[in-house]
Amino acid sequence: MQIYKGNFLFTPQRESFRVIEQGYVCVQNGVIVHVGTSLPRPLPPEAEVIDFGDCLVIPAMNDMHVHASQYRNQGISMDLELLTWLNTYTFPEEAKFADTNYARRIYRRFIHDLWRMGTMRAAVFATIHHESTRLLMKLFQEAGMGAVVGKVCMDRNCPEELCETVREAIRANEALIAEFNDPQGLVRPIITPRFIPSCSPEMLKACGQLASKHGIAVQSHLSENRKEIETVKSLEPSSTCYGDAYLRYNLFGQTPTLMAHCVYSSDEEIELMRRQGVMAVHCPTSNLNLSSGMAAMHTLIERGVRVALGSDISGGHDLNMFRVIVYAIQVSKAIKAVQGIEPQLSLPEAFWCATKSAGSFFGQVGSFEPGYEFDALVIDDHELNFDRYTLEQRLERFIYLGDDRNIIHRFCRGKEISEPQV
Ligand code: GUN
Ligand code: FE
Repeated sequence: MQIYKGNFLFTPQRESFRVIEQGYVCVQNGVIVHVGTSLPRPLPPEAEVIDFGDCLVIPAMNDMHVHASQYRNQGISMDLELLTWLNTYTFPEEAKFADTNYARRIYRRFIHDLWRMGTMRAAVFATIHHESTRLLMKLFQEAGMGAVVGKVCMDRNCPEELCETVREAIRANEALIAEFNDPQGLVRPIITPRFIPSCSPEMLKACGQLASKHGIAVQSHLSENRKEIETVKSLEPSSTCYGDAYLRYNLFGQTPTLMAHCVYSSDEEIELMRRQGVMAVHCPTSNLNLSSGMAAMHTLIERGVRVALGSDISGGHDLNMFRVIVYAIQVSKAIKAVQGIEPQLSLPEAFWCATKSAGSFFGQVGSFEPGYEFDALVIDDHELNFDRYTLEQRLERFIYLGDDRNIIHRFCRGKEISEPQV
C-alpha cells in the first residue's frame, strides 16, 4: 500500500472543492482505499509513506476531445470556419498519416506533451489509417497513460486519400477491437465516425453495428457550426435533429457516447442527450478559433446532461486543460454578458467537468474517494505565492497562472508516469 501525504483538493460534487490540508490518501493496486486527515488504523506493515510536503495534490486532467493527428497544426491556420478549415488545412494534414514514420514522430510528441500538461487520460481521434492508429494506441500503452483512441471513419465529402470503403473501415475496427478491447485495459478502441457530413448512411450504419456488437463506446462531433447543421439537415431530412440522426444509427448513447461541441443543441437535442446519457464535450478554444459560437455549458449541466471539456487540437490551440478550464469559465461569462441569462460556470464546476465528470467515462476516475483509481498531479506552486493564500486560492492561482513547470509528479491508475520518449 502507498500512503500519500499532502494538501488534497478535489470536487466530489460540482458545487465546491473538498480541501484536506495535510491529509492522507492510501492507494492499493492503483485504487484509493482511504482518504482523510489521519492515517488508517491499524497501519498495514508494508505501508510506504510518501510525503509531498506543502504541495497541492489534485486529480489529473482528462481531455475528452482531441485530434492527435492534427498536432502539427496546433496554433496555426485558424482563419477559416469549420467546413472550409477541414478541406483547406485539416484533411491534407491527416492524409500524411498513411506514413507510419510520420505518424510515429507526431504521435510521440503529442503523448509527451499530454504528459507534460498533466493530462493522464484522453479521448483521441487518430485518422482513417489502421496502422498509424494502432501505433498511437501502442505509444499510449508504453507511456502508461489512459486513452480511448478512434480510428476515424469517413467515406464522403473528403479527399480521395482520406476516403475509405465501409468494408475497410469495418476490417480495421475489428482488428483494433480484437487487439485492444480488454475491459481492464487503460488504452481502448472507440468507434469514431468523423461526423455525419463525412459518413454515408452505410458507414454510419456499420459504425453503429460495430459499437453495439462489441459494446464499445462511440465519439463524434455534434452541432458545432451553423453550416454543418444545415448540411446534416439536407443529408438526413427525416431526422428531427442532428442528435436524432446519430440515434437512428445506434450512435447516440446505445453504448457510452462522447459528442464534441453541442454549441447549437436545441431543447430537443439536449433532452435526447440527457435521456441517452450522452456526454457533451465542451471545447471553448476551438469554438472561438473557428468562429463556431459559444456553448451554454451551464444549461447543459442544469438539464442533467453529462459534461466534459476538450482541447480539440487543432481547432483548439491549447493542450493545457487548466487553460481550457479558464476558457470555459470565460465563455460562460461572455454568454452571461451578452444574453443576460446564463449563470456563469464557477471554478469548482469547471474543475469538476475536467476531473470527476469527465473521468466517469473511464469508470471511477477523477476524484479522491474510496474506490477511485488514483490519477493525480502533484503541484509545487511555491514560485506563484509571494504572500499567504488559502489552499483554494493557491489552486486557483495555479489554474490561472501556473503551467507544466509546476507539475512535479503525475500518476495514472496508481502508477507514477515518467516522461515519455519523444
Ligand atoms: N468536425 C468534423 N471533423 C472535425 C475536426 O477535425 N475538428 C473539429 N473541430 N470539428 C470537426
Ligand atoms: Fe474535433
